[in-house]
Amino acid sequence: MSFRSVVVSAGGTREPWDEVRYLGNRSTGRQGCEVARAALKTGAEVTLVVANVEAALIPRGVKVVQAPTAEDMLYQMNAAAAGADLIVMCAAVADFRPIRVSGKITRHADTIPTLQLERTPDVLMNLIKHRREGQTIVGFGALTGSEAQVREQGRKKALDKGADLLCVNRVGDGHGFAASRNTLFFFDSQGNERGQASGTKLEVAEVLLQLAGEISQSH
Ligand code: CTP
Repeated sequence: MSFRSVVVSAGGTREPWDEVRYLGNRSTGRQGCEVARAALKTGAEVTLVVANVEAALIPRGVKVVQAPTAEDMLYQMNAAAAGADLIVMCAAVADFRPIRVSGKITRHADTIPTLQLERTPDVLMNLIKHRREGQTIVGFGALTGSEAQVREQGRKKALDKGADLLCVNRVGDGHGFAASRNTLFFFDSQGNERGQASGTKLEVAEVLLQLAGEISQSH
């Protein structure tokens, strides 16, 4: 089965510290852009909610929405989710952000500043909580360690999150971020492994959509 209206998030959020600094991560958004490209190829209408993604990576034909911070991501994903039958949370949303944005640039005169952090809203969990009837929700998880460790932690994460499909990729050590190829391990909401895919980020995105379609049909 293919989906009619697909919303994908991509990129890495940047959480402001002061006027010029932010806390960020190394996600380029390439995998999310390739999920959007794969969905376009199936004929779906695609909205891509991007956090700091280079324009050249964004496939032509998607509706682009900017969401540079976790707070923006929460707002824009909730808004876009209303009409979607598939949501793929590919973005690397920061888990923490600086508590207070001073507004002023922090000068390093005599003292070393202390950065205090607070938790960001969990966009994926929020979408799952407010899931519409018939909507399929896919999450991602970036894990480090050996393949066996990644699979074991992936199973646990899938059970914790409760997304219809959780795609786990191995990061660090040349895997994941910025690479053009990827390996994904797939788990359903019960923690069952539903296969794996290795290949270009477009190829693994195609497997992801296929699996999400199968899962949505079995609901
Ligand atoms: N996510 C989210 N909102 C956040 C953090 C993460 O929606 N504030 C989503 C991501 O888009 C991804 C999934 O949740 O789909 C990743 O979950 P998370 O638990 O943050 O995984 P990791 O960052 O990989 O792992 P950890 O929590 O162990 O750092």
